[in-house]
Amino acid sequence: MHNQTFFAKDFGPDFKWGVGMAAPQNEGAAFEDGKGLSIWDVFARKRNVIKGGARPTHAADFYHRYKDDILLAKALGFKVFRFSIAWSRVLPEGTGKVNKLGIAFYHNVIDECLANGLEPVVTVYHWDLPHALELQGGWTSREMVTWFSKYVKLLTEQYGKKVQQWIVMNEPFAFTALGYMMGMHAPGKMGTANVYPAIYNAALCTAEGGRIIREHCPHAVIGTSFSISETKPFTSSDKDIAAANRADALLNRLFIEPVLGMGFPQLDQFDFLDKLHIATTAWRFIDKLKFDFDFIGLQNYFSVTIKHNPLIPYVSASEVSAKKRGKPHTAIGWEIDPLSFYCMLKRFSSYEGVKQIIVTEGGACFKDHLHNGVVNDQERIDYFSAYLAAMLQAKKEGVPIGGYYAWTLTDNFEWAYGYTTRFGLVHTDFETQLRTVKNSGYWFRDFLNGKAV
Ligand code: BGC
Repeated sequence: MHNQTFFAKDFGPDFKWGVGMAAPQNEGAAFEDGKGLSIWDVFARKRNVIKGGARPTHAADFYHRYKDDILLAKALGFKVFRFSIAWSRVLPEGTGKVNKLGIAFYHNVIDECLANGLEPVVTVYHWDLPHALELQGGWTSREMVTWFSKYVKLLTEQYGKKVQQWIVMNEPFAFTALGYMMGMHAPGKMGTANVYPAIYNAALCTAEGGRIIREHCPHAVIGTSFSISETKPFTSSDKDIAAANRADALLNRLFIEPVLGMGFPQLDQFDFLDKLHIATTAWRFIDKLKFDFDFIGLQNYFSVTIKHNPLIPYVSASEVSAKKRGKPHTAIGWEIDPLSFYCMLKRFSSYEGVKQIIVTEGGACFKDHLHNGVVNDQERIDYFSAYLAAMLQAKKEGVPIGGYYAWTLTDNFEWAYGYTTRFGLVHTDFETQLRTVKNSGYWFRDFLNGKAV
């Protein structure tokens, strides 16, 4: 966006610099110490759903290496460590019997963070529903809010005294759309009959989770995280503009608006949303979908350029890729567009009821090469410099941004991309689990230690 030099201190003394990860992507130990199956353990057994037939069974072995990884996060200069809890590790059947070893593991992770001067930030749900609950309908079930509430209550009872900051839900649009509409993520379900109840239940659990944490941990700082992507019309034709608006309603508005008390978004001539409203009418309690979060977590990985496409069901829209348009992109084709990040930060801060924004994820995957103990990932460094500059600009213009959590510490299990896609500041050799700090990791360390960018 601009080429001015800046420092970490320009973001202010209270700005939280963190790094994040998620249980199913990092922990491994999928069948150890009493953990139950998650939907990702089961989904990964299907053929042709995950690149290279990869499974999350060992992932980055965080379960056994958490002490080393937390030390790494500290060494890179971060002050916040975001991780998620594997629901099926603490409640193997999703509800009922508690697994003491699972509970103990997260106490250990939290204690290790605190001992190393890192603030632990807990994500309650990062996509790994217990398989036992999926067998009973999972996110499509009306029981979901009961199961989720009990799970959240357990976490607050266990960790509430040690954990200050909570993120209830990670990117509900991603896990409902990919997992319950398009079949590309666990549990691999498809169609509106699945996704409508999943959307409703995810929205309801987001708010209910916030309420439960507030009730049990009155001093906690509570947020929830959304994926956001600017949707730009490919041409200025009315049809492309309408298509971009439909994509926007789904990608950006679907979950934040109910949280803010606005209900699910409405858009003229968008059948999918009309039917969502009708499908959820019987259960709809707009008030219950609302919760006054202390912060809204935003996660932006790309912008999308959209054209009208009548062949695509429901949205009649499709993306014109960055590659096709000759625009910069990451190794999996996601458009690098820091200006759109800036625009989205401005836009979300203008919603009434958004008190603070934390960028709870930000990062990029590139084709990293480990050569003689060095990963020279200059592209990732350029990516972070540009995105942090964009964020600083938004902050200077008054957007209340309180923190940035880089995604992610180590290369890990990248969902349907398996182990082929690397987002880490630290390289993982998945055979040996050897960690090698990438140049971007050293760059972050220097930046956080006061060096100009
Ligand atoms: C998810 C992460 C994921 C990242 C990169 C985010 O949508 O929260 O789990 O690794 O994107 O794909």
